[in-house]
Amino acid sequence: MSKPEPRPPICDYEGSNYRTEFWEGKGRDYEDQVERIALRRLLPARGRRLLELGAGFGRLTSEYGNYDQVVLVDYSLSQLRYAQEKLGTSGRYIYVAADAYRLPFRPGTFDGATIIRVIHHMSDVPGVLKQVRRALVPGATLILEYANKRNIKAMLRFARGQQSWNPYTLEPVEFVELNFDFHPDYMQQQLVNAGFQMQRSIPVSFFRIGAIKNRLPSTLLAGMDGLLQLTGLHYTPSIFTRSIAENASVDNLNTGNLFVCPECGAELLQQGDTLTCSGCGQHWAIRDGIYDFKAPLDEYA
Ligand SMILES: C[S@@+](CC[C@H](N)C(=O)[O-])C[C@H]1O[C@@H](n2cnc3c(N)ncnc32)[C@H](O)[C@@H]1O
Repeated sequence: MSKPEPRPPICDYEGSNYRTEFWEGKGRDYEDQVERIALRRLLPARGRRLLELGAGFGRLTSEYGNYDQVVLVDYSLSQLRYAQEKLGTSGRYIYVAADAYRLPFRPGTFDGATIIRVIHHMSDVPGVLKQVRRALVPGATLILEYANKRNIKAMLRFARGQQSWNPYTLEPVEFVELNFDFHPDYMQQQLVNAGFQMQRSIPVSFFRIGAIKNRLPSTLLAGMDGLLQLTGLHYTPSIFTRSIAENASVDNLNTGNLFVCPECGAELLQQGDTLTCSGCGQHWAIRDGIYDFKAPLDEYA
């Protein structure tokens, strides 16, 4: 019998206080504002169904009002619970706990996807992009943010001999366990390899420097950042990109049932709060309105 493929490690936010320890009242209003400016520049005017991959506690979900439906996917049930408390259970939002490397969606389920502040936790970028590409219809828009290794701070540190890794080479750098910075050319190549055509790339967060942020109001800095985003100077710590999914694939945008088994890809049959795979027979739970594909029910037992 062949051994199951090893799975890439996951940066697990289960039970973390990401919202209160990283964002709220933590001096990151500037970063939040500039990310919204970049997103607004890149989002299409209208859309049907958006996959928000690594949605966390739904910090940016309010930006996706142009989509009829938003599917928030995150590996952390606790992050999704907070998002659900905030955004509600109207059916406009669907909450899905799943691993980005094993998405539980029918091919061609979405006409848009966003991945913001998430891919820096991924050791297997091609693996994630392949999963996302498969879930999209041809012509769909992907907005991907990544952490840029060729940023001005890293370039200066490297020039002064204070940093061992080279910001100009293509390979990703893991500066802390499961935290990667990527070169812009590397990311563009990965997008092309996965079947995307990159249309636009925007440098973001020019002023992510404590000494500047502490002295000037975040709205002023965000306004200046918004202008600098148009310069094409890709030396910032964060880069936002917009790509289009190319070539033929299946279109299931009109199919009501979004899910297939993340293990084997077969149809799922729902009975109450349990989904049963018609292929491998595994069971998956719906917990208080959150679809839980982290592990089959059988493994929870
Ligand atoms: C830094 S947070 C960003 C959250 C949100 N996008 C934002 O910008 O506020 C990263 C999120 O990615 C999720 N994540 C990390 N690895 C994942 C994986 N393999 N599959 C699904 N989600 C993952 C984490 O649970 C976490 O909520």
